[in-house]
Amino acid sequence: MSDPERELRVSKIRDGTVIDHITGGQALNVLAILGIDGDEGVGVSIGMNVPSDKLGTKDVVKVEDRELSQGEVDVLSLLAPEATVNIVREFEVVDKKRVERPARVVGLLTCPNHNCITNADEPVESAFGVVDDGVRCEFCGEIVREDIGDHLAVH
Ligand code: CTP
Ligand code: ZN
Repeated sequence: MSDPERELRVSKIRDGTVIDHITGGQALNVLAILGIDGDEGVGVSIGMNVPSDKLGTKDVVKVEDRELSQGEVDVLSLLAPEATVNIVREFEVVDKKRVERPARVVGLLTCPNHNCITNADEPVESAFGVVDDGVRCEFCGEIVREDIGDHLAVH
C-alpha cells in the first residue's frame, strides 16, 4: 500500500474525464491523442510517474468539461492498455470503463512508410489493423510496434 501522506495529489475535478492508470510516461501522448496543446483554455491536470499500487508508477490526466470519442479511446488503449476512463459529473465518478483494444484504427495514426499511399496527396484515410505486436497499415503492410505515440495524426 502507498502511504497516503506521501501520495502526489492532483485536485479533484467537478466535471470532465479522468484518464487513470496510464502507462508511466505516456501522459503527453495521451494529450496529443486528445488534440490538447494548452491553447484551448480547458483545465488540464497531469500527474506523471506517480506511485500506483497496481502499476508501480502511472500517469494520470484530468481534462475538464470534455468527454472522449470512441476513436480517441481506441488509440488510448494501444498506448495505455491498463487505462481507466472515468467520467466525472458534479465531483462524482458516474462512469468508469477499462479501455479495450480495438480490431482496427481509422484516421488517427499516420503510416511511417513515406511511400505509402496514405502519405501521398490522395484523399485516403489511414487505417491500421491491430495485431499482437503492434498495428499494421492496411495499405502497405508496415508494422508499428514501439512508440505508437510518435505516429499520431495531428488534429
Ligand atoms: N477523480 C477526480 N475528481 C473527482 C472524482 C475522481 O479527479 N471529482 C479521480 C480520482 O482522483 C481517481 C479517478 O478519478 O484518479 C477515479 O476515481 P475513483 O473511482 O474515486 O478512484 P479509485 O476507486 O481509486 O479508482 P480505481 O478503482 O479505478 O483505481
Ligand atoms: Zn502504410
